[in-house]
Amino acid sequence: LVLILDFGSQYTQLIARRVREQRVYCEIHPCTIPLAQIRAMQPRAVILSGGPSSVFEEGAPSVDRGVFELGVPVLGICYGMQLFCHLLGGGVEKAAEREYGPARIEVRKAEGLLEGFQRGEHVDVWMSHGDRVRSLPPGFETLASTPNAPFAAAGNLSRRIFGVQFHPEVVHTPRGVEMLRAFLFDVAQLPPDWTPGSFVEEAIEKIRNQIGPEAHAICGLSGGVDSSVAAVLVSRAIGDRLTCIFVDNGVLRKNEAAEVVKMFKEQVAIGDHGEGRLNLVHVDASKHFMDALHGVEDPEQKRKIIGRVFIEVFEREAAKVKNATHLVQGTLYPDVIESVSFKGPSATIKTHHNVGGLPERMNLKLCEPLRELFKDEVREVGASLGMPHHVLWRHPFPGPGLAIRCLGEITQEKLDVLREADAIFIEELRASELYEQVWQAFSVILPVRSVGVMGDGRTYENVLALRAVTSKDGMTADWARLPYEFLAKVSSRIINEVRGINRVVYDVSSKPPATIEWE
Ligand code: XMP
Repeated sequence: LVLILDFGSQYTQLIARRVREQRVYCEIHPCTIPLAQIRAMQPRAVILSGGPSSVFEEGAPSVDRGVFELGVPVLGICYGMQLFCHLLGGGVEKAAEREYGPARIEVRKAEGLLEGFQRGEHVDVWMSHGDRVRSLPPGFETLASTPNAPFAAAGNLSRRIFGVQFHPEVVHTPRGVEMLRAFLFDVAQLPPDWTPGSFVEEAIEKIRNQIGPEAHAICGLSGGVDSSVAAVLVSRAIGDRLTCIFVDNGVLRKNEAAEVVKMFKEQVAIGDHGEGRLNLVHVDASKHFMDALHGVEDPEQKRKIIGRVFIEVFEREAAKVKNATHLVQGTLYPDVIESVSFKGPSATIKTHHNVGGLPERMNLKLCEPLRELFKDEVREVGASLGMPHHVLWRHPFPGPGLAIRCLGEITQEKLDVLREADAIFIEELRASELYEQVWQAFSVILPVRSVGVMGDGRTYENVLALRAVTSKDGMTADWARLPYEFLAKVSSRIINEVRGINRVVYDVSSKPPATIEWE
């Protein structure tokens, strides 16, 4: 385990990702955790993240000095470096100029963190700091410098403590990965043995221990990547003691329910060479949801109603599972980090908790087998479980589904039109191999009618908006530059094939200031 202590940097998650990409397991914890807890984790190396604070501020976050006595390598990044210089007898000062952006370091000593580099070589890096190191603690030497930061990289080679003023974890430091590799493999001598396969074996063991030999577990299956992989993983561990409940809320995409059911029937076959069968309960509650949504226009109301009805339906079904003690959820690491990170939940991140509070209400313990993984790792785990590619690369789909893509009041008729048009859009994206190049793509039926002409007649029908965005995490997004030819084809197919639409528009707004969904 590599322990990453978080001092509140926006890049802390990136550090974790870069380390995991090297097949080394790491965890992020707030810098405030007690030394005893750190010792108990037995980290093989420690990374101190950057952070927005200055070591001179009152109450600036710090770390127990014992971390430097653990005898394991330590890497301080930006604030992390300033902090250990401050704690170990060096000096830190306000830089005359805040340094932010690209810089070029000159390598002075190609050892330790800079193993594999050449002395005298110039390397592009990304700086972002207000304070800088004025003098190094005893026993430390310079590894690289810039005109502005004489100690851009430094280290104590015998104690294996290193620091960098810049950010090796960001893409703007193109050779940052080499530095992290030098730290992990040359300095800390860690084996790159954390693979999806090894994760699956360990996870199955853990799930069996957690749930025990007799108890049952329930999983709310949406058909999305996370809940699907979680369900398949848990089914490998406890076989038919897992019951998956899939609720059709009436606002799913065209053929969605049938596809999810089919996919999980196929999983049964995959499960056969593992531990058992997958129990799937398919509840068609569309009418219940549609009745509750009748006449509702406000988006927040729609969300609340769908969340509430989901809980009602789910609880009713779950109550039929005897001896259930655990609820399986596909929580991922970014959600976990959000709740443990040093600064508390960051303001920029918007999460949509549709069914918060469910486990407490139902008196079930949580089983979250993916809570240490990033999305791309979940996909790798799914692939190593034999799950099909198209399932693992599905776009995210919001809990309230088409309800928030059918603007204003929802009617069955509008939903049907939306489903048909949306299916054409998605089908064409797949056919043109554009589907996986966008983060999300969907159609929105607008509460607007416009005039058209078809044959000799005048039409007065709904307008449909197409939305396709690129994004890394859904927090910010840009509209996808889909080829004109492609848009032309989709538009003409929709207007010709879907009754009720006579005009198609393409949404060219980025997030922020717009959001990805329209409601
Ligand atoms: P926005 O529209 O806020 O969406 O830019 C960001 C991401 O979240 C999804 N989304 C939701 N997911 N329940 C969900 O489970 C919701 O109520 C909800 N609203 C938006 C949206 O599809 C996008 O991926």
